Amino acid sequence: MTPVALIERNFAVGHRLRVFFTENAFAPDNPTLPHALGAPRSPMRPRALALLDAGLAGAQPSLAARVAAGFAARADLPELVCPPVTLPGGEAAKNDWAHVAQVLTLIERHGIDRQSFVLALGGGAFLDVVGLAAALAHRGVRLVRLPSTTLAQCDSGVGVKNGVNAFGKKNFLGTFAPPWAVINDFQLLDSLPARDKRAGLVEAIKVALIRDAAFFAELEAAAVRLRMLESDALRRAIFRCAELHVEHIATSGDPFETGSARPLDFGHWAAHKLEALSGFALRHGEAVAIGLALDTIYSRRIGALDAAAAERVLSLLEAVGFELFTPHLPQDARAMRQMVAEGLEEFREHLGGPLTVTLLRGIGRGFEVHDIHLPTMLGALTELRERHERRLAQRPQCEAVQR
Ligand SMILES: NC(=O)c1ccc[n+]([C@@H]2O[C@H](COP(=O)([O-])OP(=O)(O)OC[C@H]3O[C@@H](n4cnc5c(N)ncnc54)[C@H](O)[C@@H]3O)[C@@H](O)[C@H]2O)c1
Ligand SMILES: [Zn+2]
Repeated sequence: MTPVALIERNFAVGHRLRVFFTENAFAPDNPTLPHALGAPRSPMRPRALALLDAGLAGAQPSLAARVAAGFAARADLPELVCPPVTLPGGEAAKNDWAHVAQVLTLIERHGIDRQSFVLALGGGAFLDVVGLAAALAHRGVRLVRLPSTTLAQCDSGVGVKNGVNAFGKKNFLGTFAPPWAVINDFQLLDSLPARDKRAGLVEAIKVALIRDAAFFAELEAAAVRLRMLESDALRRAIFRCAELHVEHIATSGDPFETGSARPLDFGHWAAHKLEALSGFALRHGEAVAIGLALDTIYSRRIGALDAAAAERVLSLLEAVGFELFTPHLPQDARAMRQMVAEGLEEFREHLGGPLTVTLLRGIGRGFEVHDIHLPTMLGALTELRERHERRLAQRPQCEAVQR
């Protein structure tokens, strides 16, 4: 039946995603903050609310005072409406709506309007909680993210999404809401435990694998320094990883993920399942390392990737210090089959539409498939376990004991 009447107009909304890189953003002589926040357009001085992840604030006890002093020292910044407020971070914060409500209460109480700023300093989970509240209040107040983990600086914190968990499902509630600015302050990483510093680096390997062979070669050359978490190598990897993520958002044609493909989630179907199977004992990055290894071996087994390239991928992951197998992975064939089937289905469900998994055709060249051949994937899993056992057998006793 033809419609009685229709009004239809297309319109586009432009976004600008800015990611600043600096050290000690709150030092009075550091120009990053005024640059990122911008000169006020109205004669009224804008307001700012600063929120700190409790894990970060606990590890850097002087941070709240440094933030307050940074704002107090300069007239070209908004007025801080109250001393920085510390709120819970980590995944647990995403499991309880009360934390979003708490941020909304602060935004309302302190009169943060659409010309005002919320600054969020913390890990990816904290940025997700604050980001959702900032997107909801007044239909969106200006959010400035200062990610404080490697993962958040090179991946989650530089994107355009937020979300919290609900109904037992990860990121069930959330919005696409580009931040006003992101400030990657390397000083914030100083207090991060070595395990977390390393885990986030896997996203750099991931994005290099699907988009940038030269960056992959650069990571290979820097592998030993990355394993040692040497500062310059870490910073360079974070910068290029963030740059490739932003480039993808800006140029992929699907920044708000309306399609059923998400190339940046290479290796993530298995990682998400594995994180859950481990009861979240594994870090996201550690699970992604195993997921990347698995899908790399699978790519080789279906003939898409040559053996030498696959070996380069596995060797780099190992050289940077990732374990490519974990006792959390199922050992017997039935449990393995169940894990793969469930993992793929949950991944499909989250994106909606047909299953779309990214695989490798070469270093720097991802491609998508809509079918996974179960026996081949189980073979890849077995191969990963056997490789791990061989490495364990070769490892000197003292090293094996230390780990
Ligand atoms: N919005 C997105 O686009 C997106 C994308 C990928 C991942 N994520 C989310 O990111 C979250 C994971 O983030 P994460 O890896 O940054 O971990 P996290 O936010 O869970 O932080 C891990 C722990 O480190 C603490 N911490 C943070 N910074 C610290 C520092 N500098 N020193 C000491 N302790 C510190 C936190 O308090 C927390 O206890 C997940 O919830 C995931 O869903 C979001
Ligand atoms: Zn990831």
